[in-house]
Amino acid sequence: MTVESVRSAAHQAAELSTPPLAGGGVPGLGHGLKLVRDPLGFLARLREQGDVVRLKLGPKTVYAVTTPALTGELALSPDFKIDGPLWESLEGLLGKEGVATANGSRHRRQRRTIQPAFRLDAIPGYGPIMEEEAHALAERWRPGETIDCTAESFRVAVRIAARCLLRGDFMDERAERLSIALATVFRGMYRRMVVPAGVLYRLPLPANRKFDRALADLHLLVDEIVAERRASGQKPDDLLTALLEAKDENGEPIGEQEIHDQVVAILTPGSETVASTIMWLLQVLAEHPEHADRVREEVESVTDGRPVAFADVRKLSHTNNVVVEAMRLRPAVWILTRRAVTETALGGYRIPAGADIVYSPYAIQRDARSYGGHLEFDPDRWLPERAKDVPKYAMSPFSVGNRKCPSDHFSMAQLGLVTAAVASRWRLEQVSESNDTTRVGITLRPHRLLLRAVPR
Ligand code: HEM
Repeated sequence: MTVESVRSAAHQAAELSTPPLAGGGVPGLGHGLKLVRDPLGFLARLREQGDVVRLKLGPKTVYAVTTPALTGELALSPDFKIDGPLWESLEGLLGKEGVATANGSRHRRQRRTIQPAFRLDAIPGYGPIMEEEAHALAERWRPGETIDCTAESFRVAVRIAARCLLRGDFMDERAERLSIALATVFRGMYRRMVVPAGVLYRLPLPANRKFDRALADLHLLVDEIVAERRASGQKPDDLLTALLEAKDENGEPIGEQEIHDQVVAILTPGSETVASTIMWLLQVLAEHPEHADRVREEVESVTDGRPVAFADVRKLSHTNNVVVEAMRLRPAVWILTRRAVTETALGGYRIPAGADIVYSPYAIQRDARSYGGHLEFDPDRWLPERAKDVPKYAMSPFSVGNRKCPSDHFSMAQLGLVTAAVASRWRLEQVSESNDTTRVGITLRPHRLLLRAVPR
């Protein structure tokens, strides 16, 4: 691109119009209150006001993108990078040098390092661990027992990510500690994001101490895992070896801090997202027994009564459709942000350099313009003859473009396996103290899902 063409693009952008301001703002506060009180409802209604709309958060202007096509354009355009308040608050706690927050050449290099561990042909290598963990989850429960789905989902998600990607015998006890630390850290991180009252979190209150301990333990665990692998002298073919052997842009080994932040940056998104999705899958099995029955029948028809195996999952089309439909209605990642690196255009509107942009996969995936019976749980909409009518980018729970989740195949395999293993063994029922309403945090998950396990 020449200097002239950059100038002319900027000039064209300057001639574009400014997106409309969303209604309902309050003087001084803008749309902040709405975003705090009912973020999902507010974001889901924005498309009525335009393809791109401006929001005011105090003095700050944020641009919300509301159509599937424009979210695709945003995610694929080099004019936007990962940045903004969401990322800044995550960086402060989890580290600045990991793949999830890096940009530019460092990000490209880091993606090249981690990508082989997530490639489609690498996933069968994780099959035995995923099977073991999915069956262990279903076998832990006792008939009539009330299951705390938050703890159980976190546990299986962390164990699978840690055992598959950071292999090693020591992982069992560590995975347990990791799941406890991560559950506490995520709860606290969300509070710190929505109520950024710095001083309050430094007071010696029990909740703050618990959070600080969990965060310290998370970082300590990661250091222990790295140190032990190094001391063992072993180099199994896994993600941790790839990280330890990685070289920077100059061909030099990457620094300790970057190795540490990379492990954190992979484990943390990997466990919270999968855990939240498993919670919704358990909720769906309880809420829609007819689909739970269809899953069980499908598993039986494929396995003929033996325990479901990793290799069966790709044949379980209804089970996979249940997983996709659960992710459509309750996407773990419900909001994404970008920052414009240059003045640019989106949907015919001018986006100034440095502008923060948000979009919500939740809003996009529930939009009546894209889906008939948009709020109904209807896994059959993913049958090939119906799925072809879904507009492009109207279902991208793993995003697209250079920041697309590296773990889409890894995640889908374990989600299918867990759903199949649980549904073939148990019928699930909500108990009266259960609260399955949506809790908006870093991810979306049920407030407190408690299910009774009834044997099949
Ligand atoms: C990025 C969703 C599971 C690791 C992302 C992004 C989405 C996403 C939407 C893109 C963020 C953006 O565009 O700003 C999900 C969902 C999951 C899942 C819905 C499961 C249901 C996992 C797992 C891992 C993982 C299991 C690792 C073990 C990552 C990493 C990134 C990422 C490292 C950052 C990629 C980059 O910036 O280049 N994920 N994810 N995710 N995810 Fe996932």
